[in-house]
Amino acid sequence: MEWTHVAFVLCSMAALSWACCTPDQWQGVQSLFSGYAGFFHRGLITEFNDVAYDYEGKRSAVFLRYVNGDIEAKLKIVVRYEDDKDEGGMLYVDNYNKERCWKKRLEGEFHKACIPKDAKSYGNYSLGLKGKYEVTSYNIKGKRMDHIVTVQTLGEGVCAPIGQISMGRVGHYDVLRNVGFVDITPGIRNESVFDVPKDCADDWQDFDLPIDIDRQDYFLGV
Ligand SMILES: *[C@@H]1O[C@H](CO)[C@@H](O)[C@H](O)[C@H]1NC(C)=O
Ligand SMILES: *[C@@H]1O[C@H](CO)[C@@H](O)[C@H](O)[C@H]1NC(C)=O
Repeated sequence: MEWTHVAFVLCSMAALSWACCTPDQWQGVQSLFSGYAGFFHRGLITEFNDVAYDYEGKRSAVFLRYVNGDIEAKLKIVVRYEDDKDEGGMLYVDNYNKERCWKKRLEGEFHKACIPKDAKSYGNYSLGLKGKYEVTSYNIKGKRMDHIVTVQTLGEGVCAPIGQISMGRVGHYDVLRNVGFVDITPGIRNESVFDVPKDCADDWQDFDLPIDIDRQDYFLGV
């Protein structure tokens, strides 16, 4: 086979898998409002988070400011996959107020932040003034939740997240979550955001975290 054919096959494979993916490295600010209702408890979680995503280095970081009723927390969540090893990744959750860390081994591969090709598109439209700020929304059926994800097209197959509405059931709760992204910048300003958090240096622990802390699906809902 000639190289042009190989390139063509690779391109069409990429085209088959994804409608679009975010750039490989970016940072931004994320706001989140999540209403939940269960048999005994209901409430609203609000968050204001700094996020960093690095597909090249297979790592992500979220600094969360979390409010749920009377509960307030500052958490740093870091996901790291080591390139040379084949044994999945690590999730670190540093609770700044309690100076405590949880760790969890993650199976599989680092999630690439992409819109699947088979996601149902709602078509193109403008936010606000027509023609000024064009976006596309997709409906994505997830494992735990269904998502409507809105993105801005940056180039062929490349897009930036704008917002995500998710609904579904998490544990014993019905959840409706609205996530918005602002001030996205390409690249990583300072790689130290991905450092293993200070309270996570030793003390190996591996146990199930509350499911909503597993933030791998927050960069585009997949
Ligand atoms: C929506 O916009 C994208 C990117 O500009 C374009 O490739 C696509 O063809 C458009 N889709 C429709 C239905 O107009
Ligand atoms: C990156 O951040 C760390 C920790 O905040 C700081 O010590 C370091 O000087 C920063 N490096 C650069 C190049 O700004």
